[in-house]
Amino acid sequence: MSMLPKDPNGCPYLFLAPMEGVGDRCFRKAMASVGGFDEAVRDFLRVPRNAHVKSLALEYEADELAPIPLAAQLMGSDIELMADMAREIEQRGAPRIDLNCGCPSNTVTGKGAGSSLLKDPNFLHQVAKALVQAVSIPVTVKMRSGYEDTSLFKENLLAAQETGIHYITLHPRTKVDGYGPPARWDLIAEAKSLLKIPVVGNGDILTVEHALEMLKTTRCDALMIGRGSVINPFIFHEIRAHFAGKLFKPDWQGLVKYLNVYLTEIPEAMVIKGRVNKLKQLLGFLFKGNAELLQKRNQMLTCTYPDPECFMDYVMPMLKEGWES
Ligand SMILES: Cc1cc2nc3c(=O)[nH]c(=O)nc-3n(C[C@H](O)[C@H](O)[C@H](O)COP(=O)(O)O)c2cc1C
Repeated sequence: MSMLPKDPNGCPYLFLAPMEGVGDRCFRKAMASVGGFDEAVRDFLRVPRNAHVKSLALEYEADELAPIPLAAQLMGSDIELMADMAREIEQRGAPRIDLNCGCPSNTVTGKGAGSSLLKDPNFLHQVAKALVQAVSIPVTVKMRSGYEDTSLFKENLLAAQETGIHYITLHPRTKVDGYGPPARWDLIAEAKSLLKIPVVGNGDILTVEHALEMLKTTRCDALMIGRGSVINPFIFHEIRAHFAGKLFKPDWQGLVKYLNVYLTEIPEAMVIKGRVNKLKQLLGFLFKGNAELLQKRNQMLTCTYPDPECFMDYVMPMLKEGWES
């Protein structure tokens, strides 16, 4: 069976995107309580040159979202260490290893990893090939459309495909684009017509309509959603319901549960102010959900409450009113 099966109603395979910082364990756990997606990708595990892979690998927990599979993503440029890390991660039960060829952060790219791999298709090939040879689980690549520009776009895609990876996830912006200009879905269509392996489309899906539009215009095999799921945790259910010919109505109780799981999962070691700020980060996305909430976003972000409980007592009525509007 294909790695990216459709559901019985024809809905394509849906991925929760890796999002370092925002999409951490708390978020993934909260999202798993809502469900609707087929698989999640953990934010990158950085493999620096002097990495001790055995201890680094402990950060990855294969059954974190069980029964939902959680792929591990590796970011690094030291070929041997990356292969060692992949072996460790395989031993920890990972269903798949994804190579990060997209992270734009200079602290990362300065060391030749993340989106820097897109500067040199031969090197990208060597790193991906080393992972493929190191493990027996599927290896995949997640990439941007280029570093400064898209001049090596096709070369990078073909170099990745040639290694024996199972599929490519494409976030069609260059490193220099950051998250600014609209994602170039035309490049997903181009990748799809160039490659034999499946292409997962990613970038700027905020609604069911966007998802359908991406599928139609690019003919991609599956979808990955990041920020759209932080703004609307029910987006996967909404897409799935569309294919079932139904309308999914997000319910308030589901959202309350989602926030409770998030709150419960915030590490105990985190200082109280840090917890409030963490909640604000998540709610900063939720409050982009509609015009009513957007109007109250600043008020929510600038309020000062001493602890998470008081803050939530203040925020929940505001959120409820906006959510149901
Ligand atoms: C805060 C944040 C952190 C991210 N961290 C990662 C990461 O760890 N690995 C990765 O491959 N992509 C990362 N991305 C990129 C997303 O996975 C995704 O490709 C991008 O946000 C476009 O999809 P979206 O429009 O659905 O959010 C990150 C994006 C954001 C906004």
